[in-house]
Parts: sequence; structure tokens; C-alpha cells
Amino acid sequence: MRNVVLVSASPKINGQSVSREFLEIAGSQINTDVFSKTFIDVRKSILTHNLSEDFETLSKADVIIISFPLYYFCLPGILTRFLVDYYNYYTVSENVKNHIKVYAIVNCGFPEPEINLEAVRVIKSFCQHINAAFRFGVLIGGGPMMFAAKDAPFMKKAVQKLNNAFSSITADIKVENSAKTGHVYIGVNFPFSRRLYFFMGNRGWISTARKNGLQKKDLYKKPYRLNE
Ligand SMILES: Cc1cc2nc3c(=O)[nH]c(=O)nc-3n(C[C@H](O)[C@H](O)[C@H](O)COP(=O)(O)O)c2cc1C
Repeated sequence: MRNVVLVSASPKINGQSVSREFLEIAGSQINTDVFSKTFIDVRKSILTHNLSEDFETLSKADVIIISFPLYYFCLPGILTRFLVDYYNYYTVSENVKNHIKVYAIVNCGFPEPEINLEAVRVIKSFCQHINAAFRFGVLIGGGPMMFAAKDAPFMKKAVQKLNNAFSSITADIKVENSAKTGHVYIGVNFPFSRRLYFFMGNRGWISTARKNGLQKKDLYKKPYRLNE
């Protein structure tokens, strides 16, 4: 049986991670008669000091699917740390499988999926370092909306594209010498204006600030600027 390892890397402490949800949907399509599935949560792995066990699991993988949120236009810090540490493990281990297939599912808050491309490039570069074959990325704009508004009529096309993208991963992992495939871009076509989308997003930040005992004006503070 071939091993599929599904890695989620949201730093979120509370609440359901969007990246994890995408990963679970992608994983649910994989046939367990042919593939064994193991989930790794990077945050838990680091916090519970389970890194060596998880690195061993990764070293035996035939397929790795990594799902994470875009943080400041790139990878969350915990994922960068995890991949660098895995690379160090890889360089000293003798039994790591080579030429395995890797896929990235990257989601972000902005509606445009293209802004995830730099993060996908980082995963591709990581693959070159561990002698793995990076297959393609699924780049998702408006990630949280994919679940919050999944039943809304304007989301129909995006949800369909998402399911097709995950089916493409399932199909691709089965093929021995699969042809080169491009990335899949899935964005949210918000029916109102872009300005309203950001207005709604900003309201989320303001209510989160209030829950943490802060006011709206506190969000604009720049404590790192010593002269102001
Ligand atoms: C610290 C932080 C930085 C973020 N940076 C970006 C960003 O640069 N661009 C973007 O579109 N979304 C950004 N987001 C939004 C997340 O990518 C988005 O909410 C994602 O769905 C979170 O996924 P998760 O639930 O798996 O953590 C950021 C969110 C946080 C908390």
C-alpha cells in the first residue's frame, strides 16, 4: 500500500482551520484500498514535540499534500520552520523515499488566488531540496468564504472548481508517469463590490479586537516605531 501524508499548517489556536477543512475534503477523495492516509498538524507537531515521529512518517510518504493559509504573502512561520527542520532531517537520513509527489493547497483572505503563487514557489523550491516532484498547487482566494458562504448561489462555480481541483489531485497520485500539469486558481466572484468585501473583512478584525479587550483605534497602533 502507498502512503499519502496530509500536512496542515494553520497557526490558529482556536476555531476551525480553513486549511485543515480543505485538506480533509481532499483526503476524503483518496481511496483507502490503495493508499494509507496519515494527517500531520504542524502546530501540534511542534507543540507536542512530535517532530521526529512526524518526520519519519514524511520520510516514508509516496505522496505529500500540504495545506496552509497565506500569512503576509508567504508561508506561516511555523511551516517554514517545520520544512527547514525536515530538510535537515532529510540530509542526515538514509532511508527517505525520493521522487515522491507533492501538492500544495494554499488559501488566503483576499479574493484573488494569484497572490498565493509566491508561497507555492517556496514549496516547489523545498521539493527540489528533498528530491521530490512538485506536481501542482491549488491556489484559493477568499478561503474562509468557501465555507462561510458555500451554499450561496454566487459561490457555486468556485465550489465546483474546488471539488474538481481535489479530484485532479486524486487522479494525479494514481498515475505513475503523469504529464506536467499547471496550477489550479480558484477565486471568489463576490457579487457586490470589492469595497464591500473588504468592509466585511475589516468588521471581522474589529470584532476580534473587541473580544480581546481592544478598540478599533488600537488596530492602527505601531508599537515598533519608537519615535512616534
Ligand atoms: C497573521 C495573518 C496574516 C495573514 N496574511 C494574509 C495575506 O498576506 N494575504 C491574504 O490574502 N490573507 C492573509 N491572511 C488571511 C488568511 O490567509 C486566511 O484567513 C486563511 O483562510 C486562514 O486559514 P486557516 O483558518 O487555515 O488559518 C492572514 C491572516 C493572519 C491571521
